[in-house]
Amino acid sequence: MDKLIIEGGAPLKGTVEVSGSKNSLLPILAATLLTRDKCVIKNAPDLRDTVSMLRLLRYLGSNYEFKDHRIVIKPNGSSEIEAPYKLVSTMRASFCVLGPLLARYGRAKVSLPGGCIIGVRPVDLHLKGLAKLGAKITIREGYAHAETKHLKGGHIYLGGPFGSSVLATGNVMMAAALARGTTIIESAACEPEVVDLARFLIKMGARIKGEGSPCIEITGVKELHGAEYEVIPDRIEAATLVMAAAITRGEVMVRGARAEHMTAVLEKLKDVGVNLKISKEGILVKKTARKFKPFDIVTLPYPGFPTDAQAQFMTLMSITEGISVITEKIYPDRFMHVAELNRMGAQIKREGPYAVVHGIKQLSAAPVMASDLRASAGLVLAGLVARGKTEVHRIYHLDRGYERLDFKLQRLGARIERARE
Ligand code: UD1
Repeated sequence: MDKLIIEGGAPLKGTVEVSGSKNSLLPILAATLLTRDKCVIKNAPDLRDTVSMLRLLRYLGSNYEFKDHRIVIKPNGSSEIEAPYKLVSTMRASFCVLGPLLARYGRAKVSLPGGCIIGVRPVDLHLKGLAKLGAKITIREGYAHAETKHLKGGHIYLGGPFGSSVLATGNVMMAAALARGTTIIESAACEPEVVDLARFLIKMGARIKGEGSPCIEITGVKELHGAEYEVIPDRIEAATLVMAAAITRGEVMVRGARAEHMTAVLEKLKDVGVNLKISKEGILVKKTARKFKPFDIVTLPYPGFPTDAQAQFMTLMSITEGISVITEKIYPDRFMHVAELNRMGAQIKREGPYAVVHGIKQLSAAPVMASDLRASAGLVLAGLVARGKTEVHRIYHLDRGYERLDFKLQRLGARIERARE
């Protein structure tokens, strides 16, 4: 297992490239199960989650080659319909193979992913949506067993207690692409990653309208064909890099960042006092000496403020003098990083889905433990500004979703190194 050792205080400087979006890539890879043709996916980030998904697809009968951020993938003719626990439990996005397997083979057996550190994370909306398309679904021995003679279009409301669901929208959209007739998904997730998946499906021959809005219409087709597709840049990685520059009072061009996918985050940073310049090339964080202003955030489904940037913003709040408040409306328990930041001197109180941050002048280095992907990113940011040497343990979480973040930060002048535990 690796850890990161970070000596805080170095302002970042230079240009950094954003990788392809993890949350786009994973469902897009699942969608390749919908065809017997070859697909080519470009700008694929080289991540542990990418490898986990490819491993599952190989188990389900796909051959692939993954080199230089390009994945060439083709089913080998076998029709394995079972996604086993050991391959699904490591990553929730694996549950997205349920819709494509069911649509292709009329049968699927996919392990339920279980909870994770950031909360309960049920899959009821995925199951409700697929049932509305005519699938008979039972839960037995930890698996969702689904079968159907043929899927039929339907009118589906996918809103849940916390709003829309990204992966449930994707799962149902993929199944509906091969169903008979027209499907309407209401309260669909509007995230750019859902739009990316829809665009890939359209390239495969699917008939989809309204992606990016809460109402998506899918008219089923008999067959989908292979396609070549380039995934969008990762908006959460981009936000993390922008924040790394801002928090260290550096000057960095985050090349490839798509500002139009990051409005809520960028508006907030501007309010705080971060100097940003947006161009076709990306987002330039300009050096600022100004004092940051305390601020509040409420996480919400897109286009609201993303829960995946909450931990990183909590670090910024920790060193912004005054009182800031976070309301977590997607995952009310996603606060594992609070205790770790407090070990670095932050003053954060959590009350249910709220965190009240009393900002201080400076954090001090400490050994800390990463608990999940985005919490890890928050702790790395904290290490970049703390006085002394911070050790971030269990960074395998970070490697699940950030392509060589330590290397990218190092190239910008951060004093950060990877070491064996
Ligand atoms: C995706 C992202 C994840 C992000 C999250 C919210 C991927 C691979 N992951 O996860 O990084 O944090 O969106 O933006 O794209 N819910 C239900 N029933 C369901 C499904 C979800 O109640 O069947 C709830 C969840 O517990 C959560 C909320 O809906 O409270 C949103 O979750 P959802 O959008 O489904 O998250 P994921 O798609 O799993």
